[in-house]
Amino acid sequence: MSPTETDTAELPRHLLGLEGVSAATINRILDEASAFRELVDGADKKTAALKGRTVINLFFEASTRTRTSFELAGKRLSADVINISASASSLQKGETWLDTVRTLEAMTPDALVIRHPDSGAPHLAARALSSHCAVINAGDGTHEHPTQALLDVLTIQHHKGPIEGLKVAIVGDVAHSRVARSQIHALHTLGAAEIRLIGPKTLIPAEAESALGVQVFADADAGLEGVDVIIMLRMQLERIRGAAVPSQREYFRLYGLDPVRVGRAADDVLVMHPGPMNRGVEIASEVADGPYSVILPQVTNGLAIRMAVLNLLAQERQQEPAQ
Ligand code: NCD
Repeated sequence: MSPTETDTAELPRHLLGLEGVSAATINRILDEASAFRELVDGADKKTAALKGRTVINLFFEASTRTRTSFELAGKRLSADVINISASASSLQKGETWLDTVRTLEAMTPDALVIRHPDSGAPHLAARALSSHCAVINAGDGTHEHPTQALLDVLTIQHHKGPIEGLKVAIVGDVAHSRVARSQIHALHTLGAAEIRLIGPKTLIPAEAESALGVQVFADADAGLEGVDVIIMLRMQLERIRGAAVPSQREYFRLYGLDPVRVGRAADDVLVMHPGPMNRGVEIASEVADGPYSVILPQVTNGLAIRMAVLNLLAQERQQEPAQ
């Protein structure tokens, strides 16, 4: 890996979110991930970088992409990787989840990757730990999902070059989306020209324009005009209380991404989705599988990002202060 200006950027002890993380640190992770992307695409996919280190994936919520790619990332780096899901742990026997975290810490892991339905849970875990173990947030409630946003900006950069100056639309259930929150932080920090949130009032946080510095559109056609990137979000039915939209059919009519709507964006628009997709609810199959879609490259970049994050944070590091 060739040294770059970002090689010396400060690394946080944990990766709990992207709010307040500097452009230099984000770029350091992205550079490292780009180098790992070459490994991912090559014939020999393994490196000894984390030989002797231990990564524990602790998932209190369902996951396909995130859990699998953290596991594979750890294995590709030659770490010992353990996966624990809430349904198969002592949580079923009444142990609190923080006791589970402390118990796992006693086995001296180097990184603990946590997904939890409560916003802030990885922060609590990080505070409870006394060892060098790094906590990596793999999605907490409606708060943040930093590695997802990092893989998204890596994907945008691969196709469009620098984020600076781009117009990005994030469409759908922003209110319940930890992915959107992390994306907004990363896109702002890296200098996106415009971030537009598109969706019904019931699914866009009321304070979005002032607190997040974005533009809000209730009209999807107007919001998509001329954008360089469209990020579709899943309707997070498991987090929605009450009727946020009249029906899934009506939602698709107003906000679903079909080929006609894609035509409103820039000619070389990128269509993205963090998955899991609900085809026909937020996105038409012709678009998801169409020429502008980079939904599967996002998944491959997810592996490279998780290798980068594990490699940077699961090393024994003395010099950096605790976050
Ligand atoms: C997302 C998540 O879990 O936050 N998925 C993912 O990690 N790729 C988005 C979602 O659940 O809709």
